[in-house]
Amino acid sequence: MTKIIDGKAISQAIKDECRAQAAKYKEKGTEFTFAVIQVGSDPASTVYVKNKKKGCEYIGINSLSYELAEETSEDYLLKLIDELNANEKVTGILVQLPLPKHIDEDKVILAIDPDKDVDCFHPENVGNLSLGRDGFLPCTPAGIIELLKRSGIEIAGKECVIIGRSNIVGKPMALLLLRENATVTIAHSKTKNLAEVTQRADILIVAVGRPKMITAEYIKDGAVVIDVGIHRDENNKLCGDVDFSSAMPLCSAITPVPGGVGPMTIAMLLKNCLNARRK
Ligand code: GUN
Repeated sequence: MTKIIDGKAISQAIKDECRAQAAKYKEKGTEFTFAVIQVGSDPASTVYVKNKKKGCEYIGINSLSYELAEETSEDYLLKLIDELNANEKVTGILVQLPLPKHIDEDKVILAIDPDKDVDCFHPENVGNLSLGRDGFLPCTPAGIIELLKRSGIEIAGKECVIIGRSNIVGKPMALLLLRENATVTIAHSKTKNLAEVTQRADILIVAVGRPKMITAEYIKDGAVVIDVGIHRDENNKLCGDVDFSSAMPLCSAITPVPGGVGPMTIAMLLKNCLNARRK
């Protein structure tokens, strides 16, 4: 029987833990304020930003939101980030990606105070992560580790294959799996014989960004499959990078889309928000 990993339930448990922790901090007089900036009105970003604000409300921390026009200049955005960096009440800052083409994403990430970088995108935080030092954790990869652990899936010693080498998912995912003592392979668009590589995986993490690309032929019997993708299929239904109906019968466990990895990203962001004062 394939286990369907319930990301909604696991993320709810984490949010409830955060809520209890936030209440304790409040009793001691410690307050948190999370600032989220969106430039433009990309519909997916609007939904993510709304959910991030709702998450803050749920756990009981303050949120500030800046919804800026598509034409906002890079200078204006960088000045706003400087102000938020300097504001002692603000403990976390997140700039929703992607940004409009006229804004340099790298410059923006570098401008955020590393101590307030709850996305864990700043090179200082990525460096700490790669050295195994304490600090913020990248939200989606950390959410995947939680999904595995809370589903009773052992990571140490396992062959883990990640498809995708992005800075947001693939690369930090590899670092977190290494921390858990997995054997890690990153596959990507130039990988030869992809199915041969992915067939080795006890745990296969798919972040390719192509709807339903990963079918049964890529999967070893009994593998755990984690699907990071989210798309609309030809019938306008949400789907992932994995062809769920083809892959599912082979898997010992699999995440659905929606309701798998997606809700975990916000839960882990809220966890980072509460860790901000520790630094
Ligand atoms: N766009 C897609 N995922 C993310 C994320 O985790 N953080 C930010 N800031 N933007 C995103």
